[in-house]
Amino acid sequence: MSERVRAGYRGTGPGAITPDGCAVELYERLPVGDEPDVIARAVPARARILELGSGVGRVTHPLVERGFTVTAVDESPRMLERVRGARTVCTPIEDLELDERFDVVLLASFLIHAGDPLVRRGLLRACRQHVTDDGCVLIQRESEDRHENLPRERKIAGGRIRVVSSEPVRPGVRSVHVEYLFPDVRWTQTFLSHPLTTQAFEEALAEAGLAVDAYLTGDRTWVRALPVPGPSRAAPLPRAGKRAAGADAATS
Ligand SMILES: C[S@@+](CC[C@H](N)C(=O)[O-])C[C@H]1O[C@@H](n2cnc3c(N)ncnc32)[C@H](O)[C@@H]1O
Repeated sequence: MSERVRAGYRGTGPGAITPDGCAVELYERLPVGDEPDVIARAVPARARILELGSGVGRVTHPLVERGFTVTAVDESPRMLERVRGARTVCTPIEDLELDERFDVVLLASFLIHAGDPLVRRGLLRACRQHVTDDGCVLIQRESEDRHENLPRERKIAGGRIRVVSSEPVRPGVRSVHVEYLFPDVRWTQTFLSHPLTTQAFEEALAEAGLAVDAYLTGDRTWVRALPVPGPSRAAPLPRAGKRAAGADAATS
């Protein structure tokens, strides 16, 4: 069963597919990498983390095990029903309006590269709005060579992830096609990516009232940003892709 689809995003394969083309069963299968280590090194112990785009909890669960209190946000109820040990909020991140703020807001999985600039602004608005004044926002961005030397393949969890192609579809936006190949099953995802130079990335943060505090990894893909003091410059935006029905935030 599939959920609604975001324009330019699609997925194939068994099980539920999210609006951005992710397969729920695939994310159940994928092991976590070094994300929890990078996050744990960058934030205070036992911090309250708002995780945006949590999926099934691949990163959430190790964070909970390490003593963090996590609120997991995703627009896919089929993803969120797999999350354990964390409060869940089902909504597009761009529409997130929680009446509380968090020590840490986490925007991983390259979501900042959303193909639609309105969505990107909405994601950063949600980050800025939900972080405490002395808190931080952790962002995972693409490496500079992410769209080069394709096709590219790596082994994972008894299968292979093959980035097949990345083609320009309009100025500044690429359509990326990825295959997930396992002996018993095959999934694909096609999604939009808006590559951001370091300068463009920092400008996007500044527009939202955030400033880079540190690049946390040698490849500069993990970033810690701090809220710029003063009233947030991230004014409410017309929400891109807002759904007329079924878009209400649901918390559990
Ligand atoms: C690539 S998966 C990664 C999931 C998780 N972060 C992980 O690393 O395993 C992206 C997830 O973000 C969710 N997502 C993407 N864009 C979103 C948006 N604008 N609002 C809410 N959820 C979103 C998708 O539904 C999906 O579960």
